[in-house]
Parts: sequence; structure tokens; C-alpha cells
Amino acid sequence: MSTPFYITTPIYYVNARPHLGHAYTTICADVINRYHTMVTDETFFLTGTDEHGDKIMRAAKKENMTPRAYVDQISALFRDLWPQMNISNDHFIRTTDNSHVAVVKMILQKIYDQGDIYFSEYEGKYCFGCERFYADRELVEGKCPDHQTEPEIIKESNYFFKMGQYQQWLIDYIHAHPDLIRPERYRNEVLSFLREPLDDLCISRPKSRIQWGISLPFDNDYVTYVWFDALLNYISALGYPDGPQFTKFWPVVQHIVAKDILKPHGIYWPIMLKAAGLPIYHHLNVHGYWNVAQSKMSKSLGNVVEPLQLKNVYGLDAFRYFLMREMVFGLDANFNEEALVQRINSDLANDLGNLFSRVVTMAHKYFKGVVPQSDVAVERELAMGLEEKAGRAVVTYTEEMTVFAFHKALSAVWELINQMNKIIDVTAPWELAKNKACQPRLQAVIYNLLEGLRVISGLIYPVMPETAATMQKHLGCDATQPFYKIDIVKKWKVLSPGTQLPKSVTLFPRVEIKKEADAMSAPDTVQAGVPEFKPEITLEDFTRIDLRVATVKRAEKIPRAKKLLKLEIDLGEPELRTLVAGIAGTYTSEELIGRQIIVVANLKPAKLMGVLSKGMLLAASNDDQTVALTLDRQMPPGTRIR
Ligand code: MSP
Repeated sequence: MSTPFYITTPIYYVNARPHLGHAYTTICADVINRYHTMVTDETFFLTGTDEHGDKIMRAAKKENMTPRAYVDQISALFRDLWPQMNISNDHFIRTTDNSHVAVVKMILQKIYDQGDIYFSEYEGKYCFGCERFYADRELVEGKCPDHQTEPEIIKESNYFFKMGQYQQWLIDYIHAHPDLIRPERYRNEVLSFLREPLDDLCISRPKSRIQWGISLPFDNDYVTYVWFDALLNYISALGYPDGPQFTKFWPVVQHIVAKDILKPHGIYWPIMLKAAGLPIYHHLNVHGYWNVAQSKMSKSLGNVVEPLQLKNVYGLDAFRYFLMREMVFGLDANFNEEALVQRINSDLANDLGNLFSRVVTMAHKYFKGVVPQSDVAVERELAMGLEEKAGRAVVTYTEEMTVFAFHKALSAVWELINQMNKIIDVTAPWELAKNKACQPRLQAVIYNLLEGLRVISGLIYPVMPETAATMQKHLGCDATQPFYKIDIVKKWKVLSPGTQLPKSVTLFPRVEIKKEADAMSAPDTVQAGVPEFKPEITLEDFTRIDLRVATVKRAEKIPRAKKLLKLEIDLGEPELRTLVAGIAGTYTSEELIGRQIIVVANLKPAKLMGVLSKGMLLAASNDDQTVALTLDRQMPPGTRIR
């Protein structure tokens, strides 16, 4: 019996239309869910919408709608978007569903009856955007770190959940389960929150202020705090307390969220589960932000990227591939369309697309499209080693997928693709075809390449299900057979000699872009191991960038931003400039002071975590570290780089 798998996304607020950020999380969940369908028979994938609270009530008012009509409308936008993104969720939960409301009341009553909830008057700083009270230490310069607004002082009587009493239990639990919260940086972040005393959680809102919510079962003058309500979706969707799906899937639950909602998921949720007498989730998988022009995408910043538009222009599988390949799960990534086009042209059209069409076309040219027989002795003599290479790719891929390292899993597949492209160059089937005596070799080469493509089609299935199906059809795999199951994917010699293949197709057409932007597309041939360079620019293009030497005068960490340092730099101007640099992972503030760095001085200023950054530091950067460019001898601040 294989182990079941249960994956959830956050349930999205219905005060805004779905954007790229929501699509990313949901596609991650879809990819991991599809991956698990390859290895197990039973998976459950949940997404949905979070529909209560003041924020939603106000959004409805703004649209001149009743909250009910408003939430129905926006929730439908999410629900209808997902099938268009090939999202394979098993259920779509809404917090306005009666079954969910019943579970919230049941849990509240249970926790209330056991004495974990008390009534008290409270005066505190309340952020209406977050719909919660803030302690002074959580504010940045007196403002909410997410909304950059000053919270209002509110005094009211409310119900509180005794979260504080579970603080030590949670610390111990996280220590005993080192990969409960991953990647590690987020586990550390939760542990660092827990170094401060944990306040009790205000779990009610008076109806005199907010009416749109679930009434407390023990006091009808109050509604439930939206987070206490929302988090319970993960169990209500399974039919808590005794539904068969709850029994089967709850013990294996994994959540995916972005770092913005780490605290409710890393602290409130495990404590709520503990108080309710339920097992804690298996893993909380936390990813970073998609930024646009260095800022988090949000409706208020007006930099929202619409997933459907991108899908319609570039194709769904290419869009899904880009998101999974470009972002290192856990870190932030910058979205720009040029990078998307570059990935399509190089990874998809060039590497995978070319390999597929070369091999299938050769099968047609040399064997009339019939899968040839391959002789073991000839294979040994040829020593292509493709079976071993494919085997290694499968092993790395499965290891990386298990820990949500999608970009590394895909890298392993692309390594195999590049190895296969090389094998074609080395074995030169077109030469073998010229000589009758080389026929057995030609058969072995083409058969093994077709097999390699079959393995690749299985490995890309979670990310690009449509492309996988097209490839399998053209490799003569029977669509009724589970060719995407890992046990079959990792086998060798699955394709049956004698099978007639359909004509080859183009998997990914190259994206041609406007004349002046054409320079941004990838070079035509990209060899394995050689970095992809951007195309030529003119000297004039280069001189538009004002690069200068600067001396770091002050440096400090930006609270709640793991990677960011705020630098005060001397550029030879009358006043020091502020610049935000993502190098906190590599440098301490102290070691930067006095150093000379290179900055782009004429970059349009941008706000990062509330700090206006005027310019950008240059650094060498890969997935592991970011190292600042410095000079090997002193130059006056402001010196031009040319
Ligand atoms: N309703 C709460 C979640 C309750 S879960 C019990 C909420 N909703 S939200 O609509 O604001 O969605 C937040 C989530 O959307 C993030 O955690 C992330 O999954 C996704 N993203 C929103 N913007 C994003 C980016 N810019 N980048 C990456 N993901 C983003 O919070």
C-alpha cells in the first residue's frame, strides 16, 4: 500500500483578482500533487477562498454589493481560473460553506469548553489592513511592516485564545521535527519569533464593528477572527471530525504558503491543532515572493501580472515551466517577460523541442516511423550509457521533488536532455545511415534515444502535463497505460519495437519578439555547461547605465527582511545616498563599512520593505550566494566605471 498525500494552498482572499503570485503557489501545489500521483495512488489537493472579515466587507461596500454577492463573484474568478491553468485540485473550499462554518464553531466550542479561551478588555494597536493587533516590537518605525501604515489604537472587549501557554511546547516540537517548516530559513524565522514571549491571540471581533464572519458559538455578539476561521479550512475540507477523507489524508498533510503568512501557519496553526487535540501537519513548505521591478506584486502597487494573459500569449506549459524553473523555492524571484521568452527559446524550443524533433524525425527518416529493434551487444559496444544517465536523472529528480526543489529537479532533467543532444552529435546517426553495415548501430542509437525521450516525458509530466502527453503520443505510448507512473518512467526498454509512430510535431515554437527587443532572445545553440549570455548591445546602450564607485559609510539590516541590508553610501554627492542591497546572506553590516562597491547610480528609485533605494549594487550572484563587486585599490567616491 502506498502512502497517501495531501497538499493545500492558502485559501485566497476575495478582495482582489487572482494574479501571478496566487498562480505560482497553486501551480506549485499542482506540480507536487501530480508528482505524487506518479508515486502513489491516493492524493488530495485542496485550494479555495477566504471570504470573511472586514477587508472583504469593505471591498464589497466599495463595489456597492452585498458581501455575499461580492464573495460569490470573486471566488468564482479563482475557481474558474484554475482549470485553465491545468490545476488538478480535488476540492475548492470556501469559508462561507456551511460545512466549514460548522467545523469552526465545533472547534471553538471545544477549545472554549476546555478553558483555553477567555474574555478580556484590551487596548492595542490595530492594523485594519491585516485585521489584527500589533505589539510595538512588531512594528517598523511605528508602522505595520506589510501596509506601511500606522495602526490605530483600539480599545474593546474580546475573546482571547491562550496561545502563550503552548509556546514552549511549540519550540520543543519544532526542535524534535527539524523539517517541519522548510526551507530551513523559515524554520529559523519561526524559532526567532518564538524567542519573544508569545501573546495570547485575540480570536473575536465585536459585531458592532464587523458583521461579516462566523458567529462565536458561545457569544452571538461576536464574530470569529478571520485567521482562526480560515486556518480550519484545511480540516473542514476533509470532513472533520470523522469523514473518511479526514482519517486518510490528515495524517499526511503538507501546506504550501508564501513567507507573508508564515506566522499564522508556523505559530497559530500548530498551536490551534495542539489545543484541538489534532496531529500537527507534516511539513509547512514556504516560498518567497515574485517581485516585479524589485517590489512585491500587489493591487495597491499596481504592478500585478495577470496569469491568464501570459498563458494566452506563451502557452500554458511554457508558463508553468518558467515559474517552476526560474524561482528557487524559498527565495524571491523577479518576474520579467524577457526572462520568460529566454527560457522558452533556450530550454524549451532549443533543448527539449529540438531533441524531440531530431529523434522522432530520424526515426521516420531511417525506419519509416517504426520503433527499431536494439541489440544488447551492439549497445554495449556503442557504450552510450544512456540508461545509466536516465537512471541518475530519475534519482536526482525524485530526491529534489520530494523537498519541493522544483528548479533542481528540472535541472536534472535538462542535464539528461543536454547529454542526449550530445550523444546525437557524437554518434552522428546521419553518418551511420550512409553505411549498410552500421544499420544495427543506427537501430540501437535511435531506439535508446526514443527511450530517453520517454523517460523525459514522464519526468516533465507534473510541470508540463500537456507536453508530456503529446510526447508520449508521438513515442507510441498507449494513452490508456499509466506511462507517467514512476515505476514505469524509471524502467528501461519500455517502448515496443515495431510500434508505428505518428509524424513528429513542434513542441515549442520559438517566440519571435518585436524588432528592438529581438536582441533579448537567447542565442540559437546553447551547449551544456556553457552559460547563456545575453545578446549583443551597442556601446550607446551600455553608456546609458551610469556605473559609479561608492564607499559604504553605514550598513544595517532591514527588520523582517532576511536578505536585505540598508546601506548609506558616499557617491561623491553632497549627501549620502540610501541603497537597499540583497546581500545580507553573504555579508554582515560591519564588514561592509568602508568598502568600495560598484553601483548603478541612475536606476529609477524603488521602495523595498518601506525603504527607498536610490540605485543598485552590482554583485556576482547564483543560487547559493551574492558577492558584491569591489575594487582592488581605492578610488574617489563617484568615479565613473567605463
Ligand atoms: N487568506 C489568507 C490565507 C489564509 S490560509 C488559511 C491570505 N490570502 S492572500 O490572498 O493574501 O494570499 C496570500 C498567498 O498568495 C501567499 O501566501 C502566496 O501563496 C500567494 N501570493 C500572493 N502574492 C504573492 C507574490 N507576489 N509572490 C508569491 N506568492 C504570492 O493570505
